[in-house]
Amino acid sequence: MTDHSNIQYFTEQSSVEAVNARVGDKTDGRLTDVIHSLVKHLHAFIKDVELTQDEWAAAIEFLTRTGQICDDSRQEFILLSDVLGVSMLVDAINNRRPTGATENTVLGPFHVNGAPEYPMGASIALQGARETCVFEGAVRDLDGAPIEGARIDVWCDSEDGFYDVQQPDVQPKHNNRGVFTTGADGRYQFRGIKPVSYPIPDDGPVGQLLYRLERHPNRPAHMHFIISAEGYDTVVTHIFVDGDPYLESDAVFGVKESLIVAFEPVTDGDTKWRSAFDFVLHKKTQ
Ligand code: BEZ
Ligand code: FE
Repeated sequence: MTDHSNIQYFTEQSSVEAVNARVGDKTDGRLTDVIHSLVKHLHAFIKDVELTQDEWAAAIEFLTRTGQICDDSRQEFILLSDVLGVSMLVDAINNRRPTGATENTVLGPFHVNGAPEYPMGASIALQGARETCVFEGAVRDLDGAPIEGARIDVWCDSEDGFYDVQQPDVQPKHNNRGVFTTGADGRYQFRGIKPVSYPIPDDGPVGQLLYRLERHPNRPAHMHFIISAEGYDTVVTHIFVDGDPYLESDAVFGVKESLIVAFEPVTDGDTKWRSAFDFVLHKKTQ
């Protein structure tokens, strides 16, 4: 009879050790650490709630539907990560910055590479601009010095609350998107519309989850920015419209107080609103 006494068979009590012991000695160290922790916390969660067979089957079915609705333009797993606060947590851990540097927030699924490059002052709104807005400010370093050659990639939804990529038959390509580059004074200025609040896609499993949890799918009105400059940490962020009713209940937890901006009414030709915001970049540490 073989001696089984030193073999770690799976039991409810030894579940974590039984699974983690199978990771090979030559497995990459970081992967080993991540899997060991994942198994530890996943098993603790299942033990904590004493997950039933039916609940586990429902979870598998939910994840299956989440995968099945994904395609080139729909990424339901990112939405799931967003509404569970995971995207913002990973972002926070990976983008710790000194006080005074502009904070990051969630990228979201609607950024596209290759938006048109415009000269300062141009409009990114290719149609339907009723609530016209001028966006202006500067890109500076932590000492207040202007940053020349900073690339400012911006995008926002239409006045109906949809990104161009969500309505390829309704909106012109690259509507409400553009790229600007700062000169020696570090300043930027462009025109567009005052963004409006909108729901994240809620016609899939993530939307169903939100409604089951008595949550809404709305994001407060915001303009997206990616600011990059040689030698500095890239900032992926938004500015949020002060006064928006969803600032305190953003479906994806993206709001930070430092990013809320007063959009002032103005009377300047066709322009009705003005947003002023300075971006402060932190020098790369390595
Ligand atoms: C967005 O702001 O574009 C966005 C962010 C997270 C999920 C969906 C949309
Ligand atoms: Fe957005």
